[in-house]
Amino acid sequence: MRTLPLGNTGEQVSALCLGAMYFGTRQDEALSFALLDQYVEAGGTFIDTANIYAHWAAGGQGGESEALLGRWMRARGNRDQLFIATKVGFAYQDVPRGLSPQLVEDECNKSLERLGIDTIDLYYAHCDDRTTPIRESLVALDKLVQAGKVRYIGGSNYAAWRLERAHAVSKADGLASFCCLQQRYTYLRPKPGTAFDPQLAVNDDMLDYVASRADDFTLLAYSVLLSGSYTRDDRPIQEQYAGPDSDARLAVLRAVADEHGVSPNQVILAWMLHSDPPVIPLIAASSHAQMAENLAALDLTLTPEHMQRLNAARA
Ligand SMILES: NC(=O)c1ccc[n+]([C@@H]2O[C@H](COP(=O)([O-])OP(=O)(O)OC[C@H]3O[C@@H](n4cnc5c(N)ncnc54)[C@H](OP(=O)(O)O)[C@@H]3O)[C@@H](O)[C@H]2O)c1
Repeated sequence: MRTLPLGNTGEQVSALCLGAMYFGTRQDEALSFALLDQYVEAGGTFIDTANIYAHWAAGGQGGESEALLGRWMRARGNRDQLFIATKVGFAYQDVPRGLSPQLVEDECNKSLERLGIDTIDLYYAHCDDRTTPIRESLVALDKLVQAGKVRYIGGSNYAAWRLERAHAVSKADGLASFCCLQQRYTYLRPKPGTAFDPQLAVNDDMLDYVASRADDFTLLAYSVLLSGSYTRDDRPIQEQYAGPDSDARLAVLRAVADEHGVSPNQVILAWMLHSDPPVIPLIAASSHAQMAENLAALDLTLTPEHMQRLNAARA
């Protein structure tokens, strides 16, 4: 699979990262293993989970996704070929929300245990914690890097100014710094003023920030396909995405998809990969057909003219 650089790490990661959020809850073990195998057979190595996945799903209490990935890696003996990302910061079970030093250390140990690995390749602060001084959280994350429990750190659901503050503190104090941001991002723009609390969507300010750090920082996108809403009649596009330019964007999206004989989902994934700087989309799937469709987005080349039309679509 094509790869892209991950921030300033010097690592190349798969251009499509596989989200494992519902593996072990909504998707049972057999299906989850089969979908993971399908992604790996396509050359993918970059897998995303979190300590809390998926405590809100029926029968879930959190930790199911990490534990399933651990069993799958053991069964396949493939840990060394993979780049595993997990996260800390949101509440689950008796663990409160936050990034206090003790919580970060304890949750990292639990994630390593559930995953059955010695080192997490990418450890995200899943959300900002404005009650713990940012330096304390960064020192705690840096300690994990120094201890070899974590290789790189990233942020998720952060405001641009908070990322810049974290960057400044890491730089001044010689601490590990966030190499990337994982944020809610799709082709449609949310209605102005829309909040997805506790999630944060990419806005123009964030795109400006990410562009200013194109050499050392990477944007990754989650909920890219809006749960399949772009193509599924059973799942209308959420009201939050009915922004002033949404009809115009949907029209261009569908026109570009038709011109290439591909699905709107594939155009969105390709649009992110062709953006400047490129955005790494997270894909998720609950069937082989969905996975195949999403992976095939890698074969779609968008010309500068297509990119211009997609970017310029207005009401
Ligand atoms: N950092 C964060 O705060 C955060 C938040 C959310 C997610 N994430 C990460 O991002 C990953 C993806 O998030 P997401 O599930 O919200 O992504 P999404 O792309 O919005 O939704 C994925 C779902 O869309 C449907 N789908 C996928 N491909 C499809 C296709 N080709 N055609 C039709 N339907 C399709 C499937 O729904 P059905 O299974 O219902 O068929 C699939 O489970 C997660 O696994 C997780 O790793 C991170």
